[in-house]
Amino acid sequence: MDVRHPLSRRRFFGGVAAAVGALGLKPASLLGQVRTEQFTGGEAQYDAFVKIASNENNWGPPPAVMEAMQHAFKYANRYGNPDGGIIQAIAEHHGVKRENVLLTAGSGEVLDVVGTTYLQGGKFVLGADPSYGSVYQHATSIKSDAIKVPLLKDYRQDIPGMILAANRNARDIGFFYLCNPNNPTGVVISAKEVKQVVEGIPKDMPILIDEAYHHYVDDPAYGTSVPYVLEGRPVIVARTFSKIAALAAMRVGYAIAPAEVIQRMRPYTTSASGVNVLAKFAAAASLKDTAGQAEIRRKTIALRNSTSKELEAWGYPVIPSQTNFFMVSLHDKTVQPTIQAFREKNILVGRPFPPMLNHLRVSIGRDEDMAKFLTAFKEIFPKRAPVSSTAAPAQR
Ligand SMILES: Cc1ncc(COP(=O)(O)O)c(C=O)c1O
Repeated sequence: MDVRHPLSRRRFFGGVAAAVGALGLKPASLLGQVRTEQFTGGEAQYDAFVKIASNENNWGPPPAVMEAMQHAFKYANRYGNPDGGIIQAIAEHHGVKRENVLLTAGSGEVLDVVGTTYLQGGKFVLGADPSYGSVYQHATSIKSDAIKVPLLKDYRQDIPGMILAANRNARDIGFFYLCNPNNPTGVVISAKEVKQVVEGIPKDMPILIDEAYHHYVDDPAYGTSVPYVLEGRPVIVARTFSKIAALAAMRVGYAIAPAEVIQRMRPYTTSASGVNVLAKFAAAASLKDTAGQAEIRRKTIALRNSTSKELEAWGYPVIPSQTNFFMVSLHDKTVQPTIQAFREKNILVGRPFPPMLNHLRVSIGRDEDMAKFLTAFKEIFPKRAPVSSTAAPAQR
């Protein structure tokens, strides 16, 4: 459900069930594709693409992580293989107990498992729009739906509006979703705003805080939400090894949450013992590689700033991002033909994110990837008067 649609805000807040009945549920197939398509062409074609569509880490796993995977191959024939110390390493990394950790096949599995656990009986997920659509798609797939609160004009999440919606519809809401920083905009929610949510909604309403891009934030107003788990609130923090750790294809992520929340969610994982052994060893090695991760972060932020500056000098505003991707405004041009224009130049850029159909999402690759992207952008789009960025910083 979308609060911009035929429903007035007053009526929307008045009753979720009535609203859903009036609008009809949107089947997942109508919501647009929200997961990355599996590439079906050959390896040579795939390798030749500049891949800046899916917010991956184009530098790839560092040598220590590759070695850890090589080492783990010897367990490829085993069911009861060692876990490479990954659960303990995650617990120590966050200063929590092992019972607060749920290891999953990517953090996407955390998002699905939270949905399956808390949306039963037709409850709603409450979140921003646009945000990471997989959460909403999963809700639809289990015959639930979402209450989506549109972003503000400056692309920040409407925290007061979301708190209001949570309180007005508390009985119908299964969990509150905060993507921080948000995908697809790259905009961060400040620690102060997260606190407003935690303190402003019913104490027993679960909050899923998706910190997939945590490592790329340099705004001091941001802070991780893991401390709320230690306070015993039903807060679930989702993290992934797909981004900073460059392990997207290995499918490994995790949730940090109170022990009783983990126990409630665990039966719904598909991978109770199923995160594969290479992924477990790789993830454990990656957590130790703090210097390598700091270097990826440094290079990504430098390229984020330099690429944004160059696009703005060319006349195309960029939403200030705190992630390894950004959105650039195409003015009156739309994303779909732009994706095709880049593809003809062997460059894969982000998919459309309705309703932001005049914004293109671009992942930050290596220097050579961004150089090719900028050359192609300037061939596709004419120069205009220079502009400055379009969004306000996170609320202090
Ligand atoms: C905000 C957000 N959350 C979760 C995910 C899922 O990532 P993974 O399942 O690879 O950990 C993604 C992937 O792009 C994402 O952007």
